[in-house]
Amino acid sequence: MIGKVTTTIHLAAVLSLGIIGMASQVSAQETPGAPDGYPPGPLGEVVRLGEAIVYDTSEHPLSKAYVGNKLNCTSCHLEGGTDPQAGSFLGTASAYPAWSPREKRAITLEDRVLNCFMRSQNGTRPPVGSEVSVAITTYITWLSSGSKIQMNHEKSLGPRHIRELKVDWKQASAERGKLLYKTHCLDCHGQDGEGTADGPPVWGNDSYNDGAGLSRVDKLGSWLKVAMPLGDPILTDQESADIAAYVNSHERPHFKLEEHLPKPERLGEYNGQR
Ligand code: HEC
Ligand code: HEC
Repeated sequence: MIGKVTTTIHLAAVLSLGIIGMASQVSAQETPGAPDGYPPGPLGEVVRLGEAIVYDTSEHPLSKAYVGNKLNCTSCHLEGGTDPQAGSFLGTASAYPAWSPREKRAITLEDRVLNCFMRSQNGTRPPVGSEVSVAITTYITWLSSGSKIQMNHEKSLGPRHIRELKVDWKQASAERGKLLYKTHCLDCHGQDGEGTADGPPVWGNDSYNDGAGLSRVDKLGSWLKVAMPLGDPILTDQESADIAAYVNSHERPHFKLEEHLPKPERLGEYNGQR
């Protein structure tokens, strides 16, 4: 009898240990890819609307007014966020609400979306609960179908967030980066980073502001490694760091929070019909 109880306890202990061990390792590999189909009915239409907005953020009638540059969400979140590494949205919703050290509070996925409007899009934060905000958040949540909820208690980042390169960022050389930019980037992004028909602006007034994630050399370098040159990311770690230092050595809009928040009464909005 006693022996049986002990066995059961052992088994339970082993099982729970196993589960804990697995949980701490839930990683990008275990995050499912994009779902096969849209949800049926009106919810599916909202997902499609969100998808259309992330591809066309600076022009779409619902988002245009909130964007202050020539970028779209998909300029950085490649393939509509379905690229597994370059700003992936796969599994992202499973990390939220997440702790945000910057805001010093727990933020929802919607908050996270709205922050990219203020910084990466150099625009104004759309009201919480507004059609544009909910559509994008619905699209990203749909891309996380099948992922196990695992809130991030350290950072507001999902399971496939950009992996930071292990390089000495202080040694990144804008001078070396300048030459590399000519070889690998200039054709698509232009001599003065102003963008061309083949690639959006990478510095100046029409690019992300200095409060955006990519304005940090380590973040940009790590993203470049898996994202650029588009379709053929062949840079070494050091080249990615050097080019990032060069790109971010140029002027871009300066971020001041007050300039990116809507009027207080527009910060939040009832999300439904009256
Ligand atoms: C200039 C590039 C850029 C643009 C444009 C941009 N983002 Fe981001 N976004 C980033 C970076 C960089 C991160 C941090 C990602 C990381 O560290 O893995 C991020 C993070 C996010 C996250 C959190 C991802 C996670 O893993 O938890 C969401 C959600 C998000 N962005 C949504 C959007 C939406 C929606 C738009 C368009 C309205 C947008 N972003 C536009 C660069 C951009
Ligand atoms: C073949 C053309 C092409 C080449 C070469 C290329 N890019 Fe891009 N790049 C793009 C396109 C297109 C996008 C937007 C992605 C999308 O819309 O799918 C982009 C997006 C970006 C972005 C994020 C959005 C923005 O404009 O800030 C940065 C930063 C960037 N590229 C930097 C570089 C750097 C640095 C290089 C050289 C290592 C490079 N790219 C090479 C076409 C290119």
